[in-house]
Amino acid sequence: MILGIESTCDETAASVVADGTRVLSNVIASQVDLHQKYRGVVPEIASRAHIENILPVLQNSLSQAGCELKNVDAIAVAYRPGLIGSLLIGVTAAKTLAWALGKPLIGVDHVHAHLYSVMLEEKDEGRSRKDEEACPFSDVAHSSFPAIGLVCSGGHTAMYDMKSWTQITLIGSTIDDAVGEAYDKVAAILGLEYPGGPIVDRIAATGNPKAIAFPRSMLGKESLDFSFSGLKTSVLYHVRGVPAKPKRDVINPAVQNPPRIPTSEELPDICASFQQACVDTIRLKLRRAIEKTDAKSVIIGGGVSANRGLREALRDFDVPVFFPPMQYCTDNAAMIAGLAHVLFDRREFSPLDMDAITYSQFR
Ligand code: KG4
Ligand code: ZN
Repeated sequence: MILGIESTCDETAASVVADGTRVLSNVIASQVDLHQKYRGVVPEIASRAHIENILPVLQNSLSQAGCELKNVDAIAVAYRPGLIGSLLIGVTAAKTLAWALGKPLIGVDHVHAHLYSVMLEEKDEGRSRKDEEACPFSDVAHSSFPAIGLVCSGGHTAMYDMKSWTQITLIGSTIDDAVGEAYDKVAAILGLEYPGGPIVDRIAATGNPKAIAFPRSMLGKESLDFSFSGLKTSVLYHVRGVPAKPKRDVINPAVQNPPRIPTSEELPDICASFQQACVDTIRLKLRRAIEKTDAKSVIIGGGVSANRGLREALRDFDVPVFFPPMQYCTDNAAMIAGLAHVLFDRREFSPLDMDAITYSQFR
């Protein structure tokens, strides 16, 4: 039984997971309300909120799991990559607990843990395994490696060659925006709320995906990298027109090209066509990755793995594709405790002077 802690970005989360798959509690304190007006995560606000949230979240997680600290076998924490001020709160809490209780500390990579979330069972007993979104990956895990792993979220778009849960090699990543970031920025252009991914996804279902020919950025014939910033600019120009060259006496070009919000009639086709461009790009990159490796399956995790269009588009893919249950797509601590179980079995414990590692140090 492992207690997991997650605080890499703007969610403070704690979870107790048994045997690496049975989620006994999954408590998440979201900070969306705090960051909404800035349309993105403000690091200083995030770390202060983590300090306020960490103890109540830990207490709730233990009481919902019906267990006491003395019953857990190890303390796991996401120690990379993330915002340094945010990471330090979770890492310090985990080290303190591990030291005070004399239990092993297990540092977990947040991005790798997103992939492991396909192993987690639905928390709601009644829906377990019956939910069509839940893929019973744990039944087939061993025969599904080697696999292509794809993490697509607000902070990451990265593809991996996975020989196992611990032998993971990066084979491609975004050279500019992460796909979730593109969703959030396009939502801002369209005058929609933050975070925009789920809203664009919902509106896209009512539009024509072929209505507007937005670009699919492939970055050359062989490349496994991604680029979404051209697509985002294309949506901007579609909505507001290509900006006129600023006149010499205009100090602020935004005055000359004032923002325009599309009408509610225009929105569905824009959302559907943007989503189709994202989905086509991801599908093509996955195909390329499968051709280059001997992958037997695809494992997808991260916030954008909740996207209905992506799930639909990969339903009859060349190899089996595994998605996490919906509740484990976005940031959570169950995936941290889950992956820690694999490390626990291998006795891969972390020292009490383990460092938190931010984005720039992560490879
Ligand atoms: O994994 P996550 O919680 O945080 C990071 O590690 O970044 O992902 C959050 C991202 C946001 O950009 C959000 O807009 C996006 O995932 N997202 C979606 C959907 N649900 C969340 N994007 C597209 N479609 C969705 N249904
Ligand atoms: Zn994440």
